[in-house]
Formats: sequence, structure tokens, C-alpha cells
Amino acid sequence: MQFETDFLIIGSGIAGLSFALKAATLGRVTMVTKKNKVDSSTNRAQGGIACVLDKNDTFADHIRDTLISGAGICDEEVVRMVVENGPECVRELLRIGVHFEQDNNGQLDLGREGGHSTRRIAHAYDLTGHEIECTLLTAASGHPNINILENHIAIDLLLASKSDTAGSEASHRDSCHGAYVLDSQTGEIHSYAAKVTILCSGGTGKVYLYTTNPDIATGDGIAMAYRAGARIANLEFVQFHPTCLYHPKAKNFLISEAVRGEGGRLIDENGRLFMQKYDPRGDLATRDMVARAIDTEMKTSGNDSVFLDITHQPADFIKKRFPHIYKTCLSYGIDMTREPIPVVPAAHYMCGGILTDMAGRSSIESLYALGETACTGLHGGNRLASNSLLEAVVYAEQAFQQCKKDWPELARKNPPSSPSWSSGRAERIEECILITHNWDQIRRLMWDYVGIVRSTQRLHLVQETLAPIQQQIRQHYRDYLLTPDLVELRNIALLADLIVRSALARHESRGLHYIIDYPNQVAEPLQKFTTLQKPPTPAHH
Ligand code: SIN
Repeated sequence: MQFETDFLIIGSGIAGLSFALKAATLGRVTMVTKKNKVDSSTNRAQGGIACVLDKNDTFADHIRDTLISGAGICDEEVVRMVVENGPECVRELLRIGVHFEQDNNGQLDLGREGGHSTRRIAHAYDLTGHEIECTLLTAASGHPNINILENHIAIDLLLASKSDTAGSEASHRDSCHGAYVLDSQTGEIHSYAAKVTILCSGGTGKVYLYTTNPDIATGDGIAMAYRAGARIANLEFVQFHPTCLYHPKAKNFLISEAVRGEGGRLIDENGRLFMQKYDPRGDLATRDMVARAIDTEMKTSGNDSVFLDITHQPADFIKKRFPHIYKTCLSYGIDMTREPIPVVPAAHYMCGGILTDMAGRSSIESLYALGETACTGLHGGNRLASNSLLEAVVYAEQAFQQCKKDWPELARKNPPSSPSWSSGRAERIEECILITHNWDQIRRLMWDYVGIVRSTQRLHLVQETLAPIQQQIRQHYRDYLLTPDLVELRNIALLADLIVRSALARHESRGLHYIIDYPNQVAEPLQKFTTLQKPPTPAHH
């Protein structure tokens, strides 16, 4: 069946919900979310939203901190725009009902994180993402113009070529008018035709064996955009969060950087502080430096983790400031008020993504990308802590303003009808091991060979190993009826390949990308973006 909507939003985190609430003032909005609408990376964000909100803080300082963290390749114009629009966007979240913590004088209580020269993180203790997600969801769920489809996963974008739309000879496809979407409960695949399509499906953490991300983070938006021919950038910049809880039973539990912001110190198994050896900023150095230092410590000592110690702070303060972390650690038998927490780095954030302009537009007409799915130029080679939620809300507003401007023309547009999805001779998959085995292979391979420290040899080895796996997945894709697991497997396999290709294309070490064959930064020519784009498929193929 074909459904029609004005705005098709793929993903239900802070970027998608913020845009949805605005776009619903223009037309009908359909949101597609893979699982439960609350399953998003936003929901897990502990730290908060970085923004100039204190009278002693300045835009210039936030801009400078972002540029330093980004290792010389942020787009300065974008950084300025995001930082300067931040306060208004945070005020808007407050108006919608998001509750950020306040001090005794009624001022926002601002936290500190690595790479920030001052306290500037608005937070709801260590549940900030959850607070934002729930508030925006409540607003969106009750909105008459917003329809949220849970348990639906987008497969591929609906495209029209110039020749389809303008009758020219051009054979390349360059306009998006919706997506094919799988209803995971019925197994049916429908097309959702839209005037504007927004990809905001989060990041790519599940490409790696160890990650702080939720299960939904399989790079779906980036994979769909790449297959559609959009420009993708900077996928080599995978941010590893330095402190993920190390416990055999804990799955992906983040220990917020705010713990170091409140005085937490990294120590080795003998209780020795080690960060000063690596960076004069110590425990509050930028994430690339801290994650690399921990990696070096673990490789040198042969230990399975390092430790994060905040026991010198009063127990009552720790329990009040970090209620979620305290309770979760305690459930694993670790009392963080009395003993150090074992921690390891884990894949956390994709700084690259679908390349967009300042309005969030991709290189394909009518296709936008927001949040972690996008590469706007804000993060450069290493995202500054808590700049991601900021980017999401600012770009939701930028994209909305662009759509509002285009609305008189968009409102007249009728998306072309698209062919129904054909499953050919595909059959139900009987052995799910075919999927899970490939899934495990890829994630282990990426963790072992494309992690914090890389080498050209290992990257080539990954390419050789991935090629037959991708071939098998292509075959599964033809042979079996689509399931969410198969759709995600196809996406993580593509993302793994694209990350490796980007890493091979950058012949220097910069920010999060450290490669032993090129240990230094290249001064000139400065390569801001490593871009990848699928060559156009000739129309007759
Ligand atoms: C954290 O709380 O450490 C995560 C915040 C972020 O990734 O910006």
C-alpha cells in the first residue's frame, strides 16, 4: 500500500521530535520508529546540553572549546551559528516543559565536562536525555498532526530522477519522496510518500562489539542515504566514550563524563592517577585524548579495565547528583561512594554522517538529515561533550525554517507514485543463525581492527574479510523475506565498509582517527571532510 504524508521523519530522538513539533504547524507529520518510541540515543544521554547560559560564560569561549576539541577541522561558521542559537533553543525546551536542574537561586545548575573551559551543561542530574525525550514525546503524542508509527523500520528511500521529474535526459536520481517501510509486526512493506523526508535515526554504535548506544543504533539513516547516492562524510571519526561500566553482566552502561566534571579521577589498578602523563588537562581532557590514554594503559598493563574514583566526594552529593549511575552500579555490587568503578572505552558517537548544509539539507533534494545521522561540520574530528543535543535542537529549527520558507511550493507538490515493494521469490528465513553469525562477525571485526588505534594493514584485512560477508548478506536479501534483523544487518555491514574506506582515505592522525602509519596531523592541504558517494546507477540497470 502507499500512504501519503507531508513530512516523513525516520527516528524518534530529540532531533526528530523537535522537528516534528515544529513541522506539525505546517502539515501532516508521520514518524517512523523501529521499536518503542522511547528507544533512542537521546533517552540514554546522561550528561546534558552544552550551552552559554551563565553570565560569566561567552559565545567566544564555547566556540573556542568546540574548535579545539574538533582538532582543527570544524566548520567555524557552523560552530558559531550553533553556539549562538543555543540559548534560544534551550529556552524553547524549557517552554515545552523540560525540567533542567536549578540551584537555590533559581538559576540553571550547570555541569562541567571534558574539553569545556567552564560549567555550561544544562542537565536533569544524570537522566537529562530521558527528561527531554519524555517531555517531547508527551507533546508529540497528543498532537493531532503527528502520527507515530512504532515497530516500523525504514528500508530504503523512494527516489525520482531528474528525468522522472523534469523530463530531461539526466539518469541520476536526485530527489527523495519518502521511503519503503517494514511493519515489523505484520511483515508487510508499505511505501510512505512524503514531500519532505528527514533522516534522524541516530548513530552507528552497534557496528562495534562494545558500545554505549541502544540497540537501534545501526546506522540505518546513513546507510539508506548512501544507497540513494547522497554525500556522506567523516565516518572515520568514531567517538569512543572513555568510561563505560566494565562488568560481565552490564550491557552498554555509560558512566557520564559529568562524574569527572564533579571531580572523578581515573586511576589504574594500583590506585595511581595516570591522565597527567598524557595530557596537561588531566581527567578533563577531550574525549579522544582520554580514550586513547585508557587504551594505552590497558594494553600496557594487560588489564581488562581502569577505574574511575569519586569516593572523595560526600556520599550524599554523589547519590543526589548521579542517582541513576549510583543505583545501576549498586545493582552490580559496586558502591561508587566507597569504591572506584571499573571502566573501559566503548563506541559512543558517530561524528560523521550525511553531509548537510546549514539548513540540514543533504545533497539529495527534499532529503534532510538531523542529529547524529548528519555531518554538519560542527564536531570536526572530535565532538565536544554535550554538543550533540545542542546540535540536534538547533538544526531542527534550521530545517524547519527552511521548510517554512519552501512551504508555498512544497504544499503544491504531489510526490510521484512509486512501485509496490516486490519480494520476488523470497521465503521466510528458517535459521536466524545466518543473520546473527554475520552480525557478530562484523561487530567483533570492527572492535578488534577499527577501534581507537588503527593501522593500514588491519584496515585492509577488514576489507578482505567483509567482502564475502557482504556478498552473503546480498544473497540473504534476495532469498529471504525481510525482517528488522536482516535490514539492520545489511546496514551495519555497509557502515562497517564505509567507516573502513573513510579511515583508509585519511592519511593522517587527527582527533578521533589515530592510525599508526600516519601518526601526525597534516598541516596542508587541510582535509576537512572525507566524503563518500555511491556512483550513480545508469537508468537502464
Ligand atoms: C556523557 O554524559 O558523558 C555523555 C554526554 C555526551 O556524549 O555528550
